[in-house]
Amino acid sequence: MSVVDEQQSRPAPPPGASEEEYKWHTYTQYPSGRPDAVEFIDMYKGFGRNKILRGLNMGLPEGMVSMILGPSGTGKSVCIKHMVGLLYPDDGDVLVHGESVPNMPDDDLFDMRKKFGLLFQDGALFGSMNVFDNTSFPLRQHTEKSEDEIEDIVTRRLNEVGLGSHGDKLPNELSGGMRKRAGFARALVLEPDIVLFDEPDSGLDPVRTALLGELILEIHRDMMDDAKEKQKEHLPTFSVITHDIMSARRVADYINVLWKGRIVEAGPAEDMLNSDNPFIRQFLSGESQGPLTMD
Ligand SMILES: Nc1ncnc2c1ncn2[C@@H]1O[C@H](COP(=O)(O)OP(=O)(O)OP(=O)(O)O)[C@@H](O)[C@H]1O
Ligand SMILES: [Mg+2]
Repeated sequence: MSVVDEQQSRPAPPPGASEEEYKWHTYTQYPSGRPDAVEFIDMYKGFGRNKILRGLNMGLPEGMVSMILGPSGTGKSVCIKHMVGLLYPDDGDVLVHGESVPNMPDDDLFDMRKKFGLLFQDGALFGSMNVFDNTSFPLRQHTEKSEDEIEDIVTRRLNEVGLGSHGDKLPNELSGGMRKRAGFARALVLEPDIVLFDEPDSGLDPVRTALLGELILEIHRDMMDDAKEKQKEHLPTFSVITHDIMSARRVADYINVLWKGRIVEAGPAEDMLNSDNPFIRQFLSGESQGPLTMD
């Protein structure tokens, strides 16, 4: 029996929405035609009395750029920490490429983390290292590659994000947008299968946000081509966590809307943008009037 009483823990649908509208993700078939790269299955997580995830069912479709949208404090960053095994669910499961993260022995967890490239809100660069060394860091840490090989990889990645001529700069000499691009380059050097962006748009002006969105799409396309050419087992899966609706409109193939610990609705971006669900309409149009309130 589940340790969590579902009736008590699952929040009722908000006023104005039916249980049907406040449905959680249950697929009859996977959106990409392959199993999702990451799946949350009936997952619960609380910190003391603060219940954050309450019966979360959510998938990140393999080979797609998906978005996790939700108001501040809904548990988006907490989701990321579960994917990489930094937090454990109270109940339910998190699967990465079909394997249960909470049940993984430490050695497997260590290997599993190499599947992920993470881009944190502030780029999370080491302040005392220049851009080149920051970007090289995962390669020096996790591989036996020679300095020549490292230079090749890092130079290619920095060129890709438009920082080819800024390798010798320190993070505090860069603008916010450049720091994010450096973080992006660093997240890619180990050729991860899954790249997670935690609010890549925070602190960026609308133009830089749009450019970063384009860069994300461009790099995803390149990685798809590469994966197909090399017949890799897994296609590159990107997931962007944001509360910026404009980014979602431009970048997402697939959108998960998270609210009060569950999925309000999830689906291909086009369907979501044309949804009849009053929540989704309000959310995706960014209006203050509607069923979504600040609480
Ligand atoms: N390690 C922790 N211990 C206790 N509470 C935590 C912990 N991590 C997160 N929380 C709480 O969980 C809730 C969700 O946090 P989270 O950072 O996932 O929100 P978010 O959706 O990423 O918000 P934002 O959009 O502002 O980044 C918050 O109320 C936060 O205080
Ligand atoms: Mg967050």
